[in-house]
Amino acid sequence: SVLSLTVLDEVDSTNAEVIRQWQAGSSSIPVCIADCQTAGRGRRGKAWQSPRGENLYLSMGLTFHGGFAVLDGLSLVLGVAVANALESLGAESIGLKWPNDIFLPDGKLGGILVELQGELQEGVVQVIAGIGINVHMSEAESVDQPWTSLASAFPALEWSRNRIAAAIINAVHDAAEIFANVGFSDFRAPWQSRDIFLGKTIHARGGELEGTGEGIDGTGNYLVRNAEGVIPVRAGEISLRMG
Ligand code: BTN
Repeated sequence: SVLSLTVLDEVDSTNAEVIRQWQAGSSSIPVCIADCQTAGRGRRGKAWQSPRGENLYLSMGLTFHGGFAVLDGLSLVLGVAVANALESLGAESIGLKWPNDIFLPDGKLGGILVELQGELQEGVVQVIAGIGINVHMSEAESVDQPWTSLASAFPALEWSRNRIAAAIINAVHDAAEIFANVGFSDFRAPWQSRDIFLGKTIHARGGELEGTGEGIDGTGNYLVRNAEGVIPVRAGEISLRMG
């Protein structure tokens, strides 16, 4: 499969650009990188701060057979791929916060937004994987959680956005192919080895469910242990309780 790479000085959102390329009839795997975004999108309708020149803003358009059910697992697969790519460049201790936030001990390093474009034909779904990594992020306004960047966490290494992009594009491309062929099973152990919730007290479902993080099951649900047993959480919120 052929990748077609677009590098832009400025864009509203690289996810939106990939959608436009599909709508314009692109039959390859559209990949878009921008130097800054004017309307960067985060999960749960939040904005993603996208200052010029500092960070990586990357989106890839992926096509899967098997209907919308592929999406839950895919989100975790992407987290594993991005974490492995960053580690191959020297970033140690990359953690994952379910389902797919990229974490370091100091805070959030990056995020992944999976958007569903639609069904091309019966069972063939188009998905946009949007990946934002803080590379040289110097300041952020009103971000609601601790954050960090590759340059501040690993100051001894040189961080080139081109090299990071290349590593992530390759890793995501390979992981998506494995996921399409054999499903989620190969990704469970690699995901679990990076789980920042493991053994920690967490709440889910808006605080209704409290327990200890137990990793994920074979389909990517998060497992919470409490007095009643082990409860799988699919949708809804899990947040780590601090202190
Ligand atoms: C999150 O909320 O954690 C997900 C953030 C995803 C941000 C990336 S930056 C590239 C791509 N384009 C967007 O508009 N969002 C994603």
